[in-house]
Amino acid sequence: MDRLDGSARLMIVSDLDQTMVDHCDPENSALLRFEALWESEYSQDSLLVFSTGRTPVSYKALRERKPLLTPDITIMSVGTVIAYGQEMTPDVGWEEFLNNKWDRDIVVQETATFPQLKPQPERNQGPHKVSFSVDRQGAQEVINSLPQKLEQLGLDVKIIYSSGEALDVLPRGAGKGQALIYLLEKFSSCAKSPNNVLVCGDSGNDADLFSVPSAYGVMVSV
Ligand code: GLC
Ligand code: MG
Repeated sequence: MDRLDGSARLMIVSDLDQTMVDHCDPENSALLRFEALWESEYSQDSLLVFSTGRTPVSYKALRERKPLLTPDITIMSVGTVIAYGQEMTPDVGWEEFLNNKWDRDIVVQETATFPQLKPQPERNQGPHKVSFSVDRQGAQEVINSLPQKLEQLGLDVKIIYSSGEALDVLPRGAGKGQALIYLLEKFSSCAKSPNNVLVCGDSGNDADLFSVPSAYGVMVSV
């Protein structure tokens, strides 16, 4: 957060899978081209932010396979974890904020009553992210009734469906867009708002990045 003395010229907030990282390009040619451009033209006065649905464990696994730059800020687990710098210092204030009207055990217990929800592996789960695989119709049924059920138990959740297969249950205040708004407010409070913000993504969990006021967007085509 403190790497630059003044405002960043550009803050890029990019998804990883199928946006920054093309899994159909074993040579990583587009990624390496972007990185060369970033290092030569932008890295001195701009901020690189990754925003991924991957948990810290799964993000580290991707870094072992792909030649990724180290970003200034890493947003993981669909906007539920924010970490700064190479040391990946977690933003504890953000995690505390997400505890509001959230109880992971109750989410796990209530989602278990939907037989169509297949829990994703443990490495994809997080303190503020309960994730499943489910088809579109099954997802719609969950979206129609789970939030009300949880509301009766005092919880306020957001459900995000991505790529026709992944369903995440998060605290209402979470998500990639909310995490970015939180960061932009932090920059603004120390008079370091970036001059330009560019968000990039390709799937459902990226959608709310595009509603962040003042951000320009790039949607990846299929
Ligand atoms: C990533 C995560 C997965 C999540 C999906 C959609 O693929 O690994 O857990 O459900 O993004 O947000
Ligand atoms: Mg993606």
